[in-house]
Amino acid sequence: MIKKAVRKLTAFFYSSNVTDRLILQPFMNPKTQSQFQNLGKSATLAINEHSAALDRDGKDIIRFGFGQSPFPVPEVVVNTLKNFAYRKEYISVEGLPELRAAVANYYTDTLVTDCDASQVFIGPGSKELMFLLQMILDGETIIPTPSWVSYPPQAAMLKRNVIYIQTSADSNWLLSADQLDAKLNHSSSATKLLILNYPGNPSGTTYQKSDLIALAEIARKHEVLILSDEIYGRLNHDGSHQSIAKFYPEGTIISSSLSKWCGAGGWRLGHFLFPKEMTQLMQSMAAAASETFSCVSAPVQYAAVRAYQTDEPINDYLFHVRSVLETVGNYCAKKLNDSGIITMRPEGGFYLFPDFSEYREFLSTKGVSDSESLCRKLLEETGVALLPGSAFFRKPAELTARLAYVTFDGEKALGHSRNNSSDILSIDDLSPVCNRVVEGISRIIDWIHS
Ligand SMILES: Cc1ncc(COP(=O)(O)O)c(C=O)c1O
Repeated sequence: MIKKAVRKLTAFFYSSNVTDRLILQPFMNPKTQSQFQNLGKSATLAINEHSAALDRDGKDIIRFGFGQSPFPVPEVVVNTLKNFAYRKEYISVEGLPELRAAVANYYTDTLVTDCDASQVFIGPGSKELMFLLQMILDGETIIPTPSWVSYPPQAAMLKRNVIYIQTSADSNWLLSADQLDAKLNHSSSATKLLILNYPGNPSGTTYQKSDLIALAEIARKHEVLILSDEIYGRLNHDGSHQSIAKFYPEGTIISSSLSKWCGAGGWRLGHFLFPKEMTQLMQSMAAAASETFSCVSAPVQYAAVRAYQTDEPINDYLFHVRSVLETVGNYCAKKLNDSGIITMRPEGGFYLFPDFSEYREFLSTKGVSDSESLCRKLLEETGVALLPGSAFFRKPAELTARLAYVTFDGEKALGHSRNNSSDILSIDDLSPVCNRVVEGISRIIDWIHS
C-alpha cells in the first residue's frame, strides 16, 4: 500500500511542476532533508537546457556552456566494445583484473614509477568514486577555486565541511604552496582531504613540476590526503602532464576516467589509483561499492583494457586530439586577450576562464553586476552561452565565466589534423570545422566593444 503510494507520488513528482517539496516531504528523511533541499540541478546541465530551449525557439545559439569531448571514441576501442558486447557477468567490485593491470601499467609507464593492479579501483565514472571517498573519510574537504562544480555539492550531501581557497588570475588560477600552508595552519580538523584538479576545469591551466613538489611538501607536513583529479591529464596539450603522486606517493589518490581523453563520458568508467599504504581505505570503498553499484558494465571494462594500451592507434588519436584542442584553445585565448578580456592560455583540456572585469564600468550600463547577469545578458544579446564564475565557487560579484571551446565536429577536426602536412596546425587549417567557435568568440568581442 505504502509502496504503491510512493510510486504514484514519485511519478507525479517527475511529471508535474507542483512543488515537489510538499509532495515528497512526508517520505523524506528529516535528518538528511536539509542536505538535499538546497541542491539545484548542476549549473552545467541547467545552461545546456536553457540554451537548447532558446535553440528550439529559433535563436542561433553558440553553446560554450557544456563541457563534453567533441571527439569520437577511438575506433579500436569501439570495436573492442562491440566484440565484448556478449559479456554479461558481474565483475569483481574493484574491477576487471585485466583492466586494473592495464591501468597500473599505464601509470607505471607514464606518471608514477611504481604501482600495481591491486592499487587500482574501477567505478562507474570518477564522480561516483569521489562521492564514496568523501562518504567514507572523516574530516573536511579543502577545495581551491575556481573548482569543478560537483565537489562541493557532494560534500554538502554528506554534511562535510568545505574549506575554500580562492586562487587568482595572477597565479594562473592555481593554488600556491604558501596559500595551502597558511590555510592548513588554521585548520583544526584532524583529517583533511585536498582536491586538486589539473589541468583544471574551468581554468584550463596546470601545475609545473616545481609547483607540484612544493605542494607535496606542504601536504606531507600537514598529513593531508590529496585527491588528485587528473581527468584532463591526458589532454595536456603538449603531452607533458605530471602527477603530484610522483612527489607524494604515500598520500595521493589519482582520479581519472575515460570520459574526457577518450571521449566516452556516457560509458561511465572511471578509476582511482590508491597509494600502496591505503589498502584499508580501498577495502572500505569496495564495501561501499558492493552495496551500491556492484560493478561497472562488463563490456565497457573489456573495452577500457584496449583504451589503456599506449600503442600506435591510441597515441595517434591523442596526438591529434591534443593538437586540435591546443590550436582552438590558443586561438580563443589570444583573441579574447587582444580585446582586453583577461584569459589565461589553456595548457590542457577544453576550457577557458575569461575575466571581464576590465569592462566592469561598460557592463554596468547594461545592468551587468556579477557573473550571472554577465552570462544572462551575453546569452540574450549575442546567443553565446557561457557558465558564470559563481557556478565554480567564485565570489558572485566577480565577472568571470567558463567557456568550453568544444562546439565543433571532433571527427572532422581529427581528419583535418591528420591531413595537415605542416608541423603546426592553425585555426585556418581547421576551417570550416571550427567556424562556430570562431563566430562565438567574435560575437563576444563585438558585444564587449559595442
Ligand atoms: C574536473 C572533473 N572531474 C571529474 C569529472 C567527472 O567525470 P566522470 O564521472 O565522467 O569520470 C568531471 C566531469 O565533467 C570533471 O570535469
